[in-house]
Amino acid sequence: MNDDRLKKVKEAAAAVRKRIEVDPVVAITLGSGLSDAFGIPDGGARIDTAEIPGFPRPTVAGHSGGLWAGEIGAVPVIIQRGRVHYYEGWSLDDVTFSTRMFALLGVRTLIVTNASGAINPEIRAGDLVLISDHINMLGANPLRGANIDELGPRFPDMSAAYTPRLRRLARSVASNEGIDLKEGVYVATLGPSYETPAEIRAFRALGADIVGMSTVPEVIVAAHAGMDILGISIATNLAAGVDPRARLTHAEVIETTKRKGAEMRRLLLALIPMIPGQKPG
Ligand code: HPA
Repeated sequence: MNDDRLKKVKEAAAAVRKRIEVDPVVAITLGSGLSDAFGIPDGGARIDTAEIPGFPRPTVAGHSGGLWAGEIGAVPVIIQRGRVHYYEGWSLDDVTFSTRMFALLGVRTLIVTNASGAINPEIRAGDLVLISDHINMLGANPLRGANIDELGPRFPDMSAAYTPRLRRLARSVASNEGIDLKEGVYVATLGPSYETPAEIRAFRALGADIVGMSTVPEVIVAAHAGMDILGISIATNLAAGVDPRARLTHAEVIETTKRKGAEMRRLLLALIPMIPGQKPG
């Protein structure tokens, strides 16, 4: 990202700031199918992304765009409904545009959600999975190129990218809410074809529990910016070959996400007011 791109993100942040009444400290990115299922809280401001200069707009079915900003239990939050993907042809600067914009808006905690295929046989279709770590199989990194020192360091540490404190909080809130929350490592593939059974066996051997086509670029950029990160996935299907008779469809991914969206919403709405003091800016 050259300085020109940073200028674009700054312009976008300024446009959003004009439209909202809160200074968001938490951002949520809603993935495939979740935008509709999640609904948005009462009050607050809705922003059409067409109103934000430079903001990439989603094209894939199941992603209804737009931002919402308001308060959830007195915590100022911004919600991104739908994301753009690397497989759609967007650059990783585009894919992480909103994450950088959130950083400039003062967001300290990024909550990422997505849909995934279950590799670990202990994870069933429909399970919510707390992301403990990731494996980047995109073959690309959004921080490639000149570092923007204003946003973060050249070589960011990824040792605890998925903030341990937030993971503990998510486990405890899920347990209080009676929500079964699995936990595992997310491997990001480029897509858009689903994986082959041989690839899934290879990912299992590498230590992956779930697989998807998003999230990792945003998490890298958020870690670069020093944000706390919480990732929750809906395992919408068994990954390729886990059930040798099964075939994968996007329709199943969307259907499972819609079915489990309310549970994700319940978990996040209960958790957000309990997010402990934000890291100093
Ligand atoms: N593979 C990759 N991405 C996915 C899957 C999958 O099985 N399910 C939902 N997103």
